[in-house]
Amino acid sequence: MTITLTPVLSRTWDEDRSWTLEVYERFEGYAGLRAALTKTPDQVTQIVKDSELRGRGGAGFPTGMKWGFIPQGGDKPVYLVVNADESEPGTCKDIPFMLANPHELIEGAVIASYAIRAAQAFIYVRGEVVHVIRRLQRAVEEAYEAGYLGTDILGSGYDLELTVHAGAGAYICGEETALLDSLEGRRGQPRLRPPFPAVAGLYASPTVINNVESIGSVPSILRNGAAWFAGMGTDNENPKMRSKGMTLYSLSGHVTRPGQYEGPMGITLRELLDLTGGVREGHELKFWTPGGSSTPLLTAEHLDVPLSYEGIAGAKSMLGTKALQIFDETTCVVRAVLRWTEFYAHESCGKCTPCREGTFWLVQIMRRLEDGRGDEEDLQKLLDISDTILGRSFCALGDGATSPITSSLEYFRDEYVAHLEQGGCPFDASAATLFQGSTTGAAAR
Ligand SMILES: Cc1cc2nc3c(=O)[nH]c(=O)nc-3n(C[C@H](O)[C@H](O)[C@H](O)COP(=O)(O)O)c2cc1C
Ligand code: SF4
Repeated sequence: MTITLTPVLSRTWDEDRSWTLEVYERFEGYAGLRAALTKTPDQVTQIVKDSELRGRGGAGFPTGMKWGFIPQGGDKPVYLVVNADESEPGTCKDIPFMLANPHELIEGAVIASYAIRAAQAFIYVRGEVVHVIRRLQRAVEEAYEAGYLGTDILGSGYDLELTVHAGAGAYICGEETALLDSLEGRRGQPRLRPPFPAVAGLYASPTVINNVESIGSVPSILRNGAAWFAGMGTDNENPKMRSKGMTLYSLSGHVTRPGQYEGPMGITLRELLDLTGGVREGHELKFWTPGGSSTPLLTAEHLDVPLSYEGIAGAKSMLGTKALQIFDETTCVVRAVLRWTEFYAHESCGKCTPCREGTFWLVQIMRRLEDGRGDEEDLQKLLDISDTILGRSFCALGDGATSPITSSLEYFRDEYVAHLEQGGCPFDASAATLFQGSTTGAAAR
């Protein structure tokens, strides 16, 4: 095996009290900020552009390019907002990262703010993770005390205030414009674009919104250089392969050793499973998500697809957040998809009709299929409703809700048909371990 793990973001996680400033400074903490402050803001942005870092929040937009969109020299303040809402089923990298090493995120936030010339930054954290919020708040205090935040940071003349803001716990508030509404004190619902946040974001001012891992990757780029970062990841010889650097893969479900694994972009699931103990003993892979439940399911035939933006797109899915949820042959795919669909229906903000009504009806149909009251026409109805939602919803939540349905029907239509023929779930009651607690009548399975 040639692939090895590349711990950069996670390099301190095994240290005692890894979240403290004292430990972080022992591991080159804030060296990236010191390097950044010797350069102009535009030079810092150029370094991040050259690194080819792409957003780790799901869409993969180039981070340096996003910073470059911020108009400079206007009379409005510029803001940085770090998206730490992390609520997608299966996605669980930002929360462990902030828990284990909050200072790397704070350092990245100071560098990014400096690059876009912001004097105020926010970290918007999912409200349920009170332990993470406390840890972040303490780390921010430590950073202020040490002169990494506040006025005249490290004697550079640059000032930055950083505020940790707790959301109230809604998946839609991870969508960047809903997040801005929520941060402004309103009900979190997506905004119409244009104007884009780079022009009129928080308080109608130019705003950069980046994921935790995107911002957390910035200090290492400033410490080690753009070429070092771009040297990791997919084939440098191929200009079509633009997935660079290291990243956190969240491995969960039916695996021997679930957890966060930091490796280069473009590793395959087979390589990752080989490195981490594989599918749980005595079982085999049935299906998996490459990047959380909003990304179309893949199967064992996709084990050798590179976990890169281009590789996963080539397999008709999306890399998303690299949340690899692994399901073995004991899982009923219809039941799994029902649970995800219930989640999307619950979290739909109700602003637009295709998603609000469509997710409701998807749940009704999935429920009756799963507990044996469905018929053949329901399979086509699922596809028709998904077609009405996909591309016609106001935001990507609606699109994401259709992914598990359409991809499971593509790969596992036989299993849906088996539910029809057998009048319910064909799976053995003792086998389905992951999806207990559904609101359907089939809760015993
Ligand atoms: C329903 C929904 C939920 C989202 N949740 C998150 C989230 O929790 N964290 C995140 O970084 N991005 C989330 N996103 C993506 C953001 O809208 C945005 O693309 C991202 O924060 C940009 O950061 P990046 O460029 O660093 O990836 C979500 C998008 C949608 C449609
Ligand atoms: S797609 Fe769903 S979540 Fe997004 S605006 Fe429409 S109703 Fe709200």
